[in-house]
Amino acid sequence: MHPAAIRRIQASRDGLLAGVEPLSIAFYDILFTTYPELRKLFPADMARQREHLASAITLVARNVERLGMLAEPLRGLGARHIAYGATNDMYPIVRDTLLEAMATVSGSAWNEQAHRDWREALDEVIALMIDGARAAQARLDAAALEPASHDTDDTNYPH
Ligand code: HEM
Repeated sequence: MHPAAIRRIQASRDGLLAGVEPLSIAFYDILFTTYPELRKLFPADMARQREHLASAITLVARNVERLGMLAEPLRGLGARHIAYGATNDMYPIVRDTLLEAMATVSGSAWNEQAHRDWREALDEVIALMIDGARAAQARLDAAALEPASHDTDDTNYPH
């Protein structure tokens, strides 16, 4: 990220994080209103999921100056999202909905610059998540090609 963008997020993050719960509520309200087809991916009770998202936003905001340090946990999060049904085309939807929710809860504290700065940060987070999902999918594909070991060498397999 650009150092100036990092400094601006550092300067404004306390305000944003003070409203992280309403932000998470607004995010899913907007997401499911705009993309009702995504609702089925999520549990009926969204309480824990909202907490998960609030914690993820807090982690990113608190570490915006060292997102590289979060590379492995974010790749792991991306890998887990395969099982949740998240596909690459859904990440820009989540990013833009998150930016809209941030604008909604930040009110007059939000502006074009804040939008650009957070978009840059979320793009970095999403690139790591998609990279993790890609690597995990490659492992799954390779494993699917592996013949079950007992089929290849009958002599050892106890019948
Ligand atoms: C900025 C990108 C994203 C972040 C930071 C994020 C964050 C999270 C976190 C922290 C969890 C909790 C579970 C875990 O840690 O494994 C989670 C679960 C989940 N996410 Fe994401 N996510 C992102 C993008 C997406 C996208 C693009 C989708 C697709 C619509 C999605 C759908 C889900 C679903 C369905 C769950 C599981 C809910 C459940 O069954 O408990 N997420 N996400």
